[in-house]
Amino acid sequence: MGLSALGEVHGGGLLERGVFVLADKRAWELHGAALVGLQDAPRLEITGGEEAKSLLQLEGVLDALTRSGLSRASTVITFGGGSISDLGGLAASLFKRGVDVVHCPTTLLAQVDASVGGKTAINLKLGKNLAGTVHQPRDVFADPTVLATLPAEEWASGLGEALKTALLGGEESLGNLEALSPELVHLQPEATATLVGDCVQTKARIVAEDPQEQGPRRALNLGHTFAHAIEHCAGYGTIPHGVAVAVGVSLALEASAAMGLLEDGGLQERVRTLQGALGLPSSLADLRAQHELGPDGLRIGLAQDKKGAVDKPEFVLVRGLGDLVLGVEMEDSLLQSLID
Ligand SMILES: NC(=O)c1ccc[n+]([C@@H]2O[C@H](COP(=O)([O-])OP(=O)(O)OC[C@H]3O[C@@H](n4cnc5c(N)ncnc54)[C@H](O)[C@@H]3O)[C@@H](O)[C@H]2O)c1
Ligand SMILES: [Zn+2]
Repeated sequence: MGLSALGEVHGGGLLERGVFVLADKRAWELHGAALVGLQDAPRLEITGGEEAKSLLQLEGVLDALTRSGLSRASTVITFGGGSISDLGGLAASLFKRGVDVVHCPTTLLAQVDASVGGKTAINLKLGKNLAGTVHQPRDVFADPTVLATLPAEEWASGLGEALKTALLGGEESLGNLEALSPELVHLQPEATATLVGDCVQTKARIVAEDPQEQGPRRALNLGHTFAHAIEHCAGYGTIPHGVAVAVGVSLALEASAAMGLLEDGGLQERVRTLQGALGLPSSLADLRAQHELGPDGLRIGLAQDKKGAVDKPEFVLVRGLGDLVLGVEMEDSLLQSLID
């Protein structure tokens, strides 16, 4: 739904009960005017990116909510990418023991992924996303037109995460993504809206089965153990998260094939072709052409992954489309051959 609909749907009620906008500075500069009726609402603009997800920023947001006189019945609106929805969602879940949050995601990654499912988080000194809550948004307004100004690497990042979601969604989702790929590389808004709708539906279905991530929701981590290792090794912020996920998905498929789990023989080639069509890297070798990603650094990155057991990383592997194997531990020799 477009951003102008926010005012129409929630109308004056939002303003009466108290509303606060937490905005990504850049996104607000470019698109804030679209938030009709909320231009005069109290607002805090902060610089988006990983630095936004800190204890210091969280305290700043909570102070600003207090100073704005928000009550238990008020609403926090986030306007920005996943860093802003993670921080704003966390602040909303803590302020007065929890107020409503509405997300207006302005990056592709936030539209297809971060704004759905209710996970919130900030980073601690010892690692990413270590402090957070699950706080479902009251509503999400994903407007494809705001994505036109995204830098190319942020666009690619969203496509990488969408590719992962399409594999979880099944044949129809992957087929749709394949069919849309020529338009998606040109940021075509209708194709984007279709993609966002499809990803949201798949993620929402998986989250609804397991809101607290006790079991099936872990499928959403497909490609992520490898991706986190890649991001850690290259230095966070060097390789966009979703781009690392795209390569993580390839490695997970390779591991699935090597372990005899993959039943869909054509899937690896199909994914490789799609990655090419979307302008994404399809292998570690592709990434290594541009980034220093030695096996030792990757191994350290794998050991750091918070989703793994105490001493061994865990992986989501693939039997077929929409058919995942969760919590797999890999033989060291296989892991070694994948990252060498
Ligand atoms: N909660 C979840 O379920 C979940 C899921 C996936 C990712 N995340 C989190 O999301 C974060 C990443 O979010 P992200 O990829 O959206 O990046 P981001 O929020 O860091 O934003 C990336 C950059 O894009 C800019 N930007 C935002 N909207 C723009 C627009 N319309 N035009 C131009 N520039 C714009 C921002 O200023 C920033 O520089 C990570 O911290 C990750 O942990 C959370
Ligand atoms: Zn992700």
